[in-house]
Amino acid sequence: MLNKTAHLSPSKQLAMNYFRVAIVLFGAQLLFGLVVGLQYLFPGFLYEIVDFSVARMIHINALVVWMLYAMIGSVYLMLPDETGIEKPVGMGLGKLAFWVLTAAVAVVVVVFLFIQVGPGKESSIWFINEGREYLEAPRWADIGIVVVVLIFYANVFFTYMKGQKTGIMTVMVANLLAVAGLYLAGMFFTDNISMDQYWWWWVIHLWVEATWEVFVGTLAAYALLRVIGAKREIVEMWLWIEVLMLFGSGILGLGHHYFWIGTPEYWWEIGALFSSLEPVPLVAMFVHVLYDWGKEQGEHEAEGKGSSIKNGPTMAWVTTNAFGNFLGAGIWGFFHTLPQVNIYTHGSQFTAAHGHLAFFGAYATILIGMMYLGIQDSYGLKKLKATFKSKMAIFLITFGVLGMAVALTIAGYEQVLVERAELGAGWQAFFTAQNLPWYVQAQVWREIMGVVTFVGFVYLVWDLLTIGKVEAAAEEA
Ligand code: HEM
Ligand code: HEM
Ligand SMILES: [Fe+2]
Repeated sequence: MLNKTAHLSPSKQLAMNYFRVAIVLFGAQLLFGLVVGLQYLFPGFLYEIVDFSVARMIHINALVVWMLYAMIGSVYLMLPDETGIEKPVGMGLGKLAFWVLTAAVAVVVVVFLFIQVGPGKESSIWFINEGREYLEAPRWADIGIVVVVLIFYANVFFTYMKGQKTGIMTVMVANLLAVAGLYLAGMFFTDNISMDQYWWWWVIHLWVEATWEVFVGTLAAYALLRVIGAKREIVEMWLWIEVLMLFGSGILGLGHHYFWIGTPEYWWEIGALFSSLEPVPLVAMFVHVLYDWGKEQGEHEAEGKGSSIKNGPTMAWVTTNAFGNFLGAGIWGFFHTLPQVNIYTHGSQFTAAHGHLAFFGAYATILIGMMYLGIQDSYGLKKLKATFKSKMAIFLITFGVLGMAVALTIAGYEQVLVERAELGAGWQAFFTAQNLPWYVQAQVWREIMGVVTFVGFVYLVWDLLTIGKVEAAAEEA
């Protein structure tokens, strides 16, 4: 992923820069995940050096930021192909924005690591930490992020207006405006914690269950066009159906986060009904990928042309995405989305199981797939075949995350039975449940599976750094 990009269009070069930072932050996320997991087993580990709260914060903020980087990278990657314009409008500013954003992220991380927390004053919100889970960047960085995103959006929007307007790009441009706009809901501050949470959920939930899902729908459509030569009319028809369904269920499905934060009780019914419908579009996305694949592969075979796949690793990750999205978000989400169930599972390890499987299945997978498309372009390869390292990477990472999710599900099940149902959810019950063998063993397995995931990540980086050269040599021979 390091060199050979000179011949690329400016837009794709910038995409590769975004991917490079994304992969570094992904590594940091995993390392801090391992630290937090260890602190579950040895609560004194790194105590007062990098406390649980700090390590956890870095783990989940790195997650959100690497995904945003990889998402921006993916847009710059597809922009020239979809609009027919090699050099996006305002490219100079776009490049500058990348460096400004990366410098800001570096400063925020240093402050998170070394200053960590401040006094309960306005100045802490401005300069240290805003204190909203997943979006902890201090206010100055928030404003910087908005400026950078506006520049990025301008690049995309004006290039779109100038070039050809495909269905994929139209959805992308409209949806990006919603993604960016929602960030603002997490920026203002109220003294009332219920109100604060109310708005905060707009960002996180309306991102991951509506706008980000539409985003990965557009990525899947674009990837299928490139990787198996799917027909544009078909992938775009699916995309429009998905957009309709995702917004139909996702927006009011938001109600499943309003059950216990002091909002009116009518949210129980609204949240229950609409969030239960959320798995439906995820099934559609699943069918979309498998249907297109089956169709194109069938035609290829009928014509005696062998495999239709032009990029093995991307296809593998996109397929994992279709499965993983349905499993992690659809199934694991549905499990606890009815208020009758959620009253027992709320904030337990079950939530963490769902959080891991959903973020991984719905987003990490397809974004890694996009990185492999970037590699294929960088080396100008007609075909990119999976190597042994590509296979080890996808197998170990997927197996590891699935293993972590199963372990956490078991821990959550024990919490529901012992802490919530049997002992009545009191303070003492919380600790009693956490010391029983089913819980402790599950936490040990989570850490083991975390190490498996990390080994898979090492293979991934190794593969991304080498696969292009290997395949280029093979293609020449
Ligand atoms: C890719 C999409 C999704 C992602 C990335 C995701 C991620 C998450 C995360 C990280 C949390 C924990 C939030 C916190 O820290 O408090 C959460 C909570 C929750 N999610 Fe999802 N989710 C997704 C889709 C869904 C879907 C489709 C459903 C329902 C069908 C769902 C149902 C829930 C519920 C009910 C909670 C609250 C859990 C509790 O009360 O403790 N999620 N989700
Ligand atoms: C090396 C592997 C990993 C380990 C050991 C690990 C460990 C942890 C731990 C211990 C927590 C804190 C849970 C708590 O507050 O009780 C956490 C939170 C979280 N992690 Fe990971 N993690 C890993 C990889 C990942 C990956 C690959 C993703 C997603 C792509 C992810 C997403 C999350 C999310 C969304 C949360 C917040 C969950 C919630 O609030 O419910 N982690 N992780
Ligand atoms: Fe939600």
